[in-house]
Amino acid sequence: MRELGVRTLVAEEPVSIYESLAGKTMNKDDKQEKQETRSTDAPQQQTSAPPPPPDNAPDVTAELESVTSLAELEQRVRAFEGCDLKKTATNTVFARGRPDKGLMFIGEAPGNDEDLQGLPFVGKSGQLLDEALRWAGFDVPQDCYISNMIFWRPPGNRAPSMHEISACLPFVERHVALVKPRLLVFLGGVAAKTLLASSAGITTLRRGWHDYQPASLDAPIKTKALFHPAYLLRAPGQKRLFWRDILELRQEFEAVQSTSSTSSTS
Ligand code: URA
Repeated sequence: MRELGVRTLVAEEPVSIYESLAGKTMNKDDKQEKQETRSTDAPQQQTSAPPPPPDNAPDVTAELESVTSLAELEQRVRAFEGCDLKKTATNTVFARGRPDKGLMFIGEAPGNDEDLQGLPFVGKSGQLLDEALRWAGFDVPQDCYISNMIFWRPPGNRAPSMHEISACLPFVERHVALVKPRLLVFLGGVAAKTLLASSAGITTLRRGWHDYQPASLDAPIKTKALFHPAYLLRAPGQKRLFWRDILELRQEFEAVQSTSSTSSTS
């Protein structure tokens, strides 16, 4: 079985994505995590050991190494038949925004509006995300590049399964390596836990910054985990923390931009 996920450089013990998403006992973070899933009526993420990836799942990691542009990667995603969600989805949802500004967001999976429009975060949770980003001073279409862990809507907005996450993961890893953002933001526990290969919940992971090291890049990428905006729609009391995190992100974005302009003028 291919080993999934990178090793996180945060303090928590590194674990594989399967261990990290299994969660044997339910601690405070797990409870938060349960509440954080995108739809209250959707089946919840399993808390017993998740199934291994299907033996017949195509491992596309090696072949994606030859993909050198985002346009080609998008074509490969659209042509991919290894994730059954594609059969029930209306559209493939790849990304929106500008990939060249150094700021990339990764959410969980498209919902109904995203499925209909073929673009990520265009429904209610996307509007909340855009509102928070604009409030912090971002010009969203100009400054941000937004994608998801999963490229097709799970029926009924249920949480994506382990199989679905592992099927899409090689594309997500290549996506990040091609965009090579200065800052990478995880929207919600599924993206954060999977890409940081951490068993910690989003309440823990949202504190501070973490390093994500794609196999094909020399240097790690600085990352921040945020609550999923859909969770804030159901728990508006948490918006204060989200707004605070977005402000922290804004400060870091400005710092990163000033170092980019200094190095390009020196
Ligand atoms: N939730 C997500 O995680 N992604 C979207 O694109 C929309 C809602």
